[in-house]
Amino acid sequence: MTEERQVPTHVAIIMDGNGRWAKSKGMERWEGHRAGVDAVKRTVEAAGEAGIRYLTLYTFSIENWNRPREEVNVLMGLMVDAIIAETDELMRQRVRVRAIGNLADLPAEVREKLDGLMARTAANDGLTLVLALSYGAKWEILAAAKRLAADYREGKVTDLDAVDETMFASYLTTAGIPDPDLLIRTSGECRLSNFLLWQLAYTELYFLDKFWPDFEKDDLYLAIRNYQKRERRFGMTGEQLKCKNR
Ligand code: IPE
Ligand code: IPE
Ligand code: MG
Repeated sequence: MTEERQVPTHVAIIMDGNGRWAKSKGMERWEGHRAGVDAVKRTVEAAGEAGIRYLTLYTFSIENWNRPREEVNVLMGLMVDAIIAETDELMRQRVRVRAIGNLADLPAEVREKLDGLMARTAANDGLTLVLALSYGAKWEILAAAKRLAADYREGKVTDLDAVDETMFASYLTTAGIPDPDLLIRTSGECRLSNFLLWQLAYTELYFLDKFWPDFEKDDLYLAIRNYQKRERRFGMTGEQLKCKNR
C-alpha cells in the first residue's frame, strides 16, 4: 500500500454554512448553529470509525467576535450545552479533547466547562478532537513569535541560529499535533479565513458545496477517498516519488 492510500492522520474542517442552511429553510441563524452541533457529533463518530487520529474543527474564529452579540451568545451557549450533553458519549468513544486559540477571551463558563472536559478526557486513547475556539492563525503566529522573543530575552533560548521550524512550531497552540493532511471546507467558500496558516502549508484542500448542517458521514468518507487518490509531492517530481515508494 502506498502512502497516498492511507487514511489521513489529521483532518481539519472549516464548518461553514450554518446561517445559509437556516435561511434556505426559512429558519433563524441560531437554528442552523444548533443543527451544526448534530453534524459535529456525526463527524466525530465517523472520524473515529475511519481511523483518523486527529480531527480539528474550526468552531469559532477570532473574527467571529465581530458578529452580533446575540449570535455570539447563542454560539457560546451551544458550546456549553454540547459539552454537558456529550461528555459521557465522548468518554465512551475514548475521544480526547484539546482546544487551540485565544482561550483567555472565552466567557468564564465556557472556559470552565472546556477545562473540565479536557481534564476528564485527557487520558483517552482514541481520536484527539481539537476544538479551534477564538482561533486566528495570525494571532497564533504573532503570539508564538512574542513568546520566543521573551524566552530569548530571559536566556531560555540562547542560539537563534538553532531556532528551526520544528522548534518554532512548539510555540504554536498546536504544539505536539501533526500538521493536517486534509482540510475540508463546506458551503462552497474557497478560502482559509485565518485558519492554521502555518500548519496547512502542505495540506491537501477539499471544498464541497453542502452547508455544514447537511454534512453526513459519507461526505467525510468521500473526502478521504478523494485524498487517497492524490499524490503528495512535497516539492519532488512524480518520478522521484515512484522510486521512493518502490
Ligand atoms: C459556520 O456557519 C459557523 C460559524 C462560523 C461559527 P456560519 O454562521 O458562518 O454560516 P454562514 O456562512 O453565514 O452561512
Ligand atoms: C470560518 O467561517 C470560521 C468558522 C467556521 C468557525 P466564517 O463564516 O466566519 O468565515 P468567513 O467570514 O466567511 O470567511
Ligand atoms: Mg460562514
